[in-house]
Amino acid sequence: MMSNKTINTEQGHWILAKMGKRVLRPGGKELTEKLVECLHITHQDDLVEFAPGMGFTASMLLFKKPHSYSGIELNEEAAENLRTKINGNPDACIINTSAAQTGLKDCCADKVLGEAMLTMQADHRKSEIIKEAFRILKKGGLYGIHELGLTPDDMPQETKDDIQKNLSQTIKVNARPLTKFEWCTLLKNEGFEIKEVYASPMHLLKPARVVADEGIFRTMKIGFNVLTHPAARKKIMKMRGVFQKYEKQMTAYAIVAQKPA
Ligand SMILES: C[S@@+](CC[C@H](N)C(=O)[O-])C[C@H]1O[C@@H](n2cnc3c(N)ncnc32)[C@H](O)[C@@H]1O
Repeated sequence: MMSNKTINTEQGHWILAKMGKRVLRPGGKELTEKLVECLHITHQDDLVEFAPGMGFTASMLLFKKPHSYSGIELNEEAAENLRTKINGNPDACIINTSAAQTGLKDCCADKVLGEAMLTMQADHRKSEIIKEAFRILKKGGLYGIHELGLTPDDMPQETKDDIQKNLSQTIKVNARPLTKFEWCTLLKNEGFEIKEVYASPMHLLKPARVVADEGIFRTMKIGFNVLTHPAARKKIMKMRGVFQKYEKQMTAYAIVAQKPA
């Protein structure tokens, strides 16, 4: 079992983060913007974000000046960095714990958001986290997820196993992406109603997407870092190879689900 104390640069998302990448979700900034728009965030909202990571979405959410923001981040180093980032904001806090057990009160949140964090959990863990989102949401509250998906819905099990194996070997995380049907079923099983589903290509490491997500200057900085860190470059090229190989089968889904009123 990998430690969650420090940022482990064996894992794909942390290699990218160390190279300067801030957007670590499969559908990029554009799909996040869509998801956030669908959550209709107001100044009265109590927001909870699962796994804020580098804090990219956290900044976007805090910009909307919600009533409160709580980020639940499992990794201690990431949580510490996030605390520094939000320092001085009396309406925001970071809790260093698992999204499966947030310690938050029942029905305390208007909206819960989590990106690129369910995919990396085994299916029973995914359900525990979804159950926790349901528990902490007020009735009628919204849960937005943005995760790695598979397409089409009737993909043979063999292909799913191949993709999972290749992903685990290259990103060093037991990633288990699901089809649209499977994601929706997991959410419905915990009591959610599905409101919206959006899809976007999985272009995390395509140059055009990197520029769209990070901007031109940060892209240049990331490019420089990758060029000057050969070990990281090798790992990133391998990841890119897997993403390219399964380009047609892998996708990103953003789903908005609602706890019934
Ligand atoms: C791929 S990164 C995504 C980060 C960010 N949400 C984004 O989209 O850019 C995965 C993040 O999930 C966090 N994480 C993984 N399992 C978690 C859990 N059970 N509870 C809270 N955070 C978790 C990791 O520490 C890491 O910050």
